[in-house]
Amino acid sequence: MPTIALILAAGLGKRMQSALPKVLHPILGDPSLLWVLRALPPAVAAAVVVVHHGRERVEEALQAWAAQGLLPCPVTPVDQGEPLGTGHAAQRAAQELDRLGADRVVVLCGDVPLIRTETVGRLAGAQDEAMLLAMDLDDPAGYGRVVQRRDGSLEAVVEHKDASEAVRALRRVNGGAYALPWQSLKQALARLSNANAQGEYYLTDAVMDVAARTPVAVELCDPEELLGMNSRADQARLQAYARDRINGAWMEAGVTFLDPATALVGPRAALARDVVVGPGAQLRGSVAVGEGTVVGQGCVLSDCRVGAGAEIRPYCVIDRSEVGPDCRVGPFAHLREGTRLEARVHVGNFVETKKATLHPGAKANHLSYLGDAEVGEDSNIGAGLITCNYDGFNKHRTTIGRNVFVGSDCQLVAPVTLGDEAIIGAGSTITRDVPPGALALSRAPMVVKEDAAGVLRRKQKARGGQS
Ligand code: UD1
Ligand code: CA
Repeated sequence: MPTIALILAAGLGKRMQSALPKVLHPILGDPSLLWVLRALPPAVAAAVVVVHHGRERVEEALQAWAAQGLLPCPVTPVDQGEPLGTGHAAQRAAQELDRLGADRVVVLCGDVPLIRTETVGRLAGAQDEAMLLAMDLDDPAGYGRVVQRRDGSLEAVVEHKDASEAVRALRRVNGGAYALPWQSLKQALARLSNANAQGEYYLTDAVMDVAARTPVAVELCDPEELLGMNSRADQARLQAYARDRINGAWMEAGVTFLDPATALVGPRAALARDVVVGPGAQLRGSVAVGEGTVVGQGCVLSDCRVGAGAEIRPYCVIDRSEVGPDCRVGPFAHLREGTRLEARVHVGNFVETKKATLHPGAKANHLSYLGDAEVGEDSNIGAGLITCNYDGFNKHRTTIGRNVFVGSDCQLVAPVTLGDEAIIGAGSTITRDVPPGALALSRAPMVVKEDAAGVLRRKQKARGGQS
């Protein structure tokens, strides 16, 4: 009988002051809701996400994550309609939970991103029939307080606004995550009322109702795991926790951080041993970095793979690209989507690439734009090359063969092909294909007029200009 996750994500998140639904706000590049879904252990067969505010965007995100294979199980959204409380959210999901044949339901919040897979695993595991995650806080204000029976099991959850002074003095609070037998929860949901300080249907009332029949174990958790994202300050704090957790784990796995307080490595990065990550570097989305590679200060890498022994010098931006082993990139290089650098390629400062493949040993060391281009093995691209890939209407390809030498300050007007071993003189504008082994030049003839500089200066002076 399946365990199904029920993830509450319909709230507005007013205190975020944002046009973006709260659960889509990122922590280290990944939205809060994605963190929660990725924390689901294999024991969870499917998830139901209750949505309402910003529903279209959340549903779109769910679809995109599923298409990218980022979700550990099938996920279906359910629209709560006007949100009337956490209990109401669960009521709205009842039909879907029945359809999925739920036996046990694990309830999580979409805005509590740092819950660990092991912790959700404890909820999903069948050791206790029912369980609530709690935490002890120095400042419990705003949370539901947990009242326990003598045997430690749950007696009551009292919302802050409904609590007496004596109950408010309790520091043990409800983390908002539970495992409950579905049939029992379903009956309890059908009996909920909203006669409380907030006029809401409280899921916590249903949990207490279950507790009257089945003991609900209270499992104490690290507060970092249960901290919700209700404000931008929470978001910053969560990001700091996530950063420490992730960087700490990578250091244990043999990665050097020159400044672990400022390097932001996302939850989907994979770093081999002896990788070095510089201060302020960011690795977002799915990023893999091979053994011994250095990612320099201030680099931003999104969804890309970097081979072993590469050096990404400071301040490079690399997006949806591949960098082969032993490449040298930057400083200040911009590799845009679809760039593929094979082994030992050098791309230097102020070089921009897009949909470009550079074969092994190719070099473009200074100030160039390579778009929709292919550069053959060991070819050398001089400073200031521009592939003119766009004619105002369509994009065209540039193909450069093996061991080609392109002098500085050339424009290659695409579509165009430079054959193997060709040489292009500096300052040329190439508008036709160049056959293999040929030399191509296109320059206005140079003129030298002896003494003309002096003549020019005297004329200027006579006009009252500077000499
Ligand atoms: C809830 C608990 C409280 C606990 C706290 C932990 C209740 C009544 N109280 O309080 O005991 O200490 O979480 O963080 O459950 N949501 C919906 N639909 C709704 C209302 C909320 O989907 O109608 C979602 C929110 O988007 C959020 C989650 O449920 O992800 C929790 O809602 P929130 O309003 O933050 O609950 P609290 O009042 O903080
Ligand atoms: Ca609330």
